[in-house]
Amino acid sequence: MTASPTIVVLTGSNSGLGYETVKSLLASSVPYKIYCGARSLDKAQKTVDSLSSAKKPADILVPLVLDVSSDESIAAATKTVAEADGRVDVLINNAGKYNGPSRWPRSGHVFAGLS
Ligand SMILES: NC(=O)c1ccc[n+]([C@@H]2O[C@H](COP(=O)([O-])OP(=O)(O)OC[C@H]3O[C@@H](n4cnc5c(N)ncnc54)[C@H](OP(=O)(O)O)[C@@H]3O)[C@@H](O)[C@H]2O)c1
Repeated sequence: MTASPTIVVLTGSNSGLGYETVKSLLASSVPYKIYCGARSLDKAQKTVDSLSSAKKPADILVPLVLDVSSDESIAAATKTVAEADGRVDVLINNAGKYNGPSRWPRSGHVFAGLS
């Protein structure tokens, strides 16, 4: 009997930390089904296409249109996942914009400027 996969919904999967998180989950021996959330189907599908392989077929990775700033988009994505799997085991709410420094300071005094 095949174990039921852990159902993961990951927002902002198409770049940066989100994309790397999908790669890490795929490298795990744990069976996951990963909904790759992105603001457009094109972006979500590109993520799925670029990470799918013979070893990790496309049904493990599912493109999901999900804009976290839109109630309508969240409702539609929830409906999609509910109808397909009836549950979410793990939500990785990664989507967003990091406006901090692009690199750690060379000194290593990361919090030096904070009061
Ligand atoms: N990188 C860091 O050092 C760092 C440090 C602390 C916290 N974080 C947090 O970690 C998360 C990812 O950071 P990152 O560096 O990987 O950023 P990133 O490369 O800019 O990626 C952000 C992702 O979020 C998506 N996104 C943005 N707004 C969205 C929305 N309204 N709905 C759905 N998706 C949306 C982007 O999609 P589009 O391609 O459509 O824009 C993109 O896929 C962010 O929440 C950030 O605040 C990052």
